[in-house]
Amino acid sequence: MKISIINGPNLNLTGKREPEIYGNQSLESYFQVLAAAYPDVQFTFFQSNVEGEIVNEIQRAGFEADGIVINAGAYSHYSLAIADALRAVPAPAVEVHMSNVYQRESERHHSAIAPACVGTIAGFGLDSYRLAIESIDAMLNAQSENG
Ligand code: DQA
Repeated sequence: MKISIINGPNLNLTGKREPEIYGNQSLESYFQVLAAAYPDVQFTFFQSNVEGEIVNEIQRAGFEADGIVINAGAYSHYSLAIADALRAVPAPAVEVHMSNVYQRESERHHSAIAPACVGTIAGFGLDSYRLAIESIDAMLNAQSENG
């Protein structure tokens, strides 16, 4: 199984940025743990602060990965370009947020990309990414069992 993990703006500062919300661990160190926990999964990890680069990565990965895990950061709440890119590719996407966006400011309650994703996982810290991988795995297994 190939899974593409795509991260948006400011997520490169995870571990340093607002640790009371996002924790103390960096994405790099978490993704190393994740890759070790799933030796049979081929991961690609991508992060950009630039909307168009995220669109380019979705267009690239979306034709070769079996699933996309996307934390588009603040773009999640308003980027039609990212939503359109997710709709344009065959790989199913799961939207991820570390924080429980529904407990936060009302601007974070709306997701522009959620309608382009199979589901959303929010509020479990970095473990949200693992839960997204588990959900893609379960979904693909169910699809192959049902022919
Ligand atoms: C976030 C939530 C967004 O509202 C915020 O802009 C982020 C991170 C999360 O992972 O909780 O940058 O996507």
